[in-house]
Formats: sequence, structure tokens, C-alpha cells
Amino acid sequence: VREAGSLLGAQAEVAKHFVGDRLSVSHLDSVSQVVPGTGAVVRVKGRRCAVYREPDGTVRAVSARCTHLGCLVAFNEAETAWECPCHGSRFGVDGSVLQGPAVRPLEELDLDDGQG
Ligand code: FES
Repeated sequence: VREAGSLLGAQAEVAKHFVGDRLSVSHLDSVSQVVPGTGAVVRVKGRRCAVYREPDGTVRAVSARCTHLGCLVAFNEAETAWECPCHGSRFGVDGSVLQGPAVRPLEELDLDDGQG
């Protein structure tokens, strides 16, 4: 019983590492909730935005829809990049393509009149 318990604990730790340290899947309601140095998908005016807040507070916003086939990207804290869980495309916080299969950057968004 004890061995099984520690095995489960180890698996939980691995899962926590995978989700907590690699891909952030947090979906927030407000751009103001994005902590400096992190990124999150935020719904602004009904649109999913991939919002990254620089350590100095500057906000960068691009569409969270992958330009390959339209899956929602998630933030990879270790790489400071957006990653698509469907086929592995990776994008910089400015939306530029770091790795395919996507060939077009994430669409740039101006949140000036849409901050929520
Ligand atoms: Fe994003 Fe295919 S939909 S990589």
C-alpha cells in the first residue's frame, strides 16, 4: 500500500511539473490579471487573446488562434513562448513563428480599446 501511495505521489508530481512548469493553460477574464513575466489566454470582447506581460509591465497581445489549423495556443513559461498543443507550432511573445508547421505569425492585436 505504501509503495502504491508513493508511486501515485510521484505521478502527481510529474503531472504537476508537466502542467505547472511547461505549459500554462490559464484562461483569464482580464488583461490586468496577467502577472508580469507570464502569459495567459484572455477573452477580450469575445475574442481569445494570447497576452504576455513583460517584466516591466508592457503588454503584448496576439491572437491565441494558431495559424496552422486554429487550435488555441498555451504559454510555455520555461521558453517564454506560445505553443500549440495540436501539432507543436511555437511562437514568440510577439507572435513570430519559432517552429512550424505554422508558417504565418499569430495575428497582432491592439487591446487599447478592448482591455477588460
Ligand atoms: Fe497549431 Fe496545427 S493547429 S500546430
